[in-house]
Amino acid sequence: RQEIWLDCDPGHDDAVALILAGHNPALHLLGVSTVAGNQTVEKVTDNALRVLAAAGLAHVPVVAGAAKPLLRPVPLLCAEIHGESGLDGPLGGPVLPAASHGALPGKAPVCMFEAIAAAHARLVAGGAADARVHLVATAALTNVALLLALYPEVVDMVEVTIMGGCLGVGNTGPVMEFNIQTDPEAARIVFESGVRLAMVPLEVTHTALVTTSVLQRVRTHQPSPFLGLMTDLLMFFSDTYATVFKMKDPPLHDPCAVAWVIAPELFKTEFLRVDVETVSTLSPGQTVCDIWGQSRLPKNCTVCMEMDVARFWDLVIDAIHAADGV
Ligand code: BDR
Ligand code: CA
Repeated sequence: RQEIWLDCDPGHDDAVALILAGHNPALHLLGVSTVAGNQTVEKVTDNALRVLAAAGLAHVPVVAGAAKPLLRPVPLLCAEIHGESGLDGPLGGPVLPAASHGALPGKAPVCMFEAIAAAHARLVAGGAADARVHLVATAALTNVALLLALYPEVVDMVEVTIMGGCLGVGNTGPVMEFNIQTDPEAARIVFESGVRLAMVPLEVTHTALVTTSVLQRVRTHQPSPFLGLMTDLLMFFSDTYATVFKMKDPPLHDPCAVAWVIAPELFKTEFLRVDVETVSTLSPGQTVCDIWGQSRLPKNCTVCMEMDVARFWDLVIDAIHAADGV
């Protein structure tokens, strides 16, 4: 099994990424860190605990990370899509019941390093062909940048996969995607770190649409309180996306990054130079993807360009059903 750490800001799509990371048989979820993004770090940490408890994953450690971006004074937050709690349901307020367990007391980069270094050492000792631990980030890259700055040796221990960025049109800015726009400086540190890096941009995640037939597949397993909650969660997101982006069906961004770790054969990719705009007043957080190699700078990122959407949904729906009743 692949060792994976998930850094996130649940968030409706992060919630499903947690379930996919925790319930796909090819993965072992080492732990979860949170960062301010869709909501404040207090709220997204509480949401991560709620999701893990509801999905039979309360044993997975959670640590709260950065409350604000590295340089920018406040996180953007995204209540218009994820509600005031960050994980609202159709009745307002959080969709999932409160968890009875809490987060670890430590600092996120320290806990991340300890878990990653230990898992990497186990993989090396076991003679693994590739001893890299997967660090998947589905939120602003603040915690990941701090981890790489504090522990540069991590560069050789991990492969980082992010849901973030875009080649063209953005979502929270004309050419900016929310996770990168929230902390452009952190993203720049990660993209320039030399770490093995893969990016799943909006162009791919906008093909992972929660259609009525996807919702029906979630529900048709067997009626249960958990599947009822999952349906509420996905339908809330559907309404806010319709209001804000006039999209008939909402894109489930974050599980796409987990799917890349499970099944890279589902993706078409390009290895490109990607730089993060940090100084512009027009487009801070833009991911500048050098498709034609015109910058002549070294390539630094595997960019996912297309995904096999049907097989993606098979992975997600299997994980949701595996979580049901655990
Ligand atoms: C990203 O922004 C957040 O609102 C989602 O959880 C996802 O990680 C999409 O731009
Ligand atoms: Ca997210």
